[in-house]
Amino acid sequence: MHDEVLNIKNEAIARIMEARDLDELAEIKIGYLGRKGKITLLFRDLKNIPNEKRREIGNKINDSKKAIELTLSKKGEELTNTSLKNKSDIDLTIPGIIPNIGHLHPQTIVLNEILEIFNHLGYQVADGPEIEKDYYNFEVLNFPDDHPARDAQQTMFIDVANTKYKLGELIPRTHTSAMQGRVMEKTTPPFRVIVPGRCFRYEQVDASHGVEFWQVEGFVVDKQIHLTDLFGTIEFVLKSLFGQSTKIKFATTFFPFVEPGVDAYIECTVCNGRGCSFCKKSGWSEIMPAGMIHPNVLKHSKIDSSKWSGFAFAMGLSRVVTLKYKIEDLRVLHTPDYQILKQF
Ligand code: DAH
Repeated sequence: MHDEVLNIKNEAIARIMEARDLDELAEIKIGYLGRKGKITLLFRDLKNIPNEKRREIGNKINDSKKAIELTLSKKGEELTNTSLKNKSDIDLTIPGIIPNIGHLHPQTIVLNEILEIFNHLGYQVADGPEIEKDYYNFEVLNFPDDHPARDAQQTMFIDVANTKYKLGELIPRTHTSAMQGRVMEKTTPPFRVIVPGRCFRYEQVDASHGVEFWQVEGFVVDKQIHLTDLFGTIEFVLKSLFGQSTKIKFATTFFPFVEPGVDAYIECTVCNGRGCSFCKKSGWSEIMPAGMIHPNVLKHSKIDSSKWSGFAFAMGLSRVVTLKYKIEDLRVLHTPDYQILKQF
């Protein structure tokens, strides 16, 4: 019986190895493992084997069965692969199906570009809380309580019932300038910092306003910092972002935390300065409000304003994106519509 099991196993494996196609393989399988297959019959004959040998022979038959099954499956795979290759109705030169691959959101693409420009200028990136204290959002920045400049910020309020805060003490930050005080009180000058982040305002949503928007704030404190350093920086940044031939102009403006305050404009990229609804027919788009840091801001943060001076600026991220890609309505940036987003 011993030899018989071994012979059947060897014979089966030899036949499997020589099989030329899947049909032949199926036939071999039935011949050995089917209901009347040679291995199946061996199991049936086990009852005629004397008790003391039955277990040992039973194990042998089982091992042989496993070896045959393994060889069958390996050969099966091999034959399936070659039969696919040989089939004349498969044209292996047809290009494959290209899967849709996702990509970065246009706002992320532009933010990365901005971060790279500032990295090149030696700025560090700071990150801060979206829910901010009134102190950092306003007070440090020289917005006294009840000052009308606070109105321009359209602040939203948070329900602070059951917390240790009074109403208005904690707010969704209205600008990333709120990080100026946080950085200044912890860092000794000189420093150059940018703060990308989300801000919130109570706005009527339209083509150029959203309740939630991203700003990139920047500020520098060092010795001998002048308005011309600010102009030079803004010019470098805007030309890097929009191209060397970009036309830039400055106008004065007011923000309580800068003196003087300036607004940088670029020629509207949507209409090339001809005037359109995007630039409100002026031909120019406001892009970077900025100014020289007010001494009161430095004083609040215990920085000696007789030794140190600085400038600050901000960019509305979606504004940069819409101007760069000539999008007239920034709401398209916040729709999950793939047909729109895949164009960038
Ligand atoms: N934080 C201001 C705003 O969101 C923008 C701004 C103006 C930032 C002048 C500055 C600056 O850093 O110098 O309305």
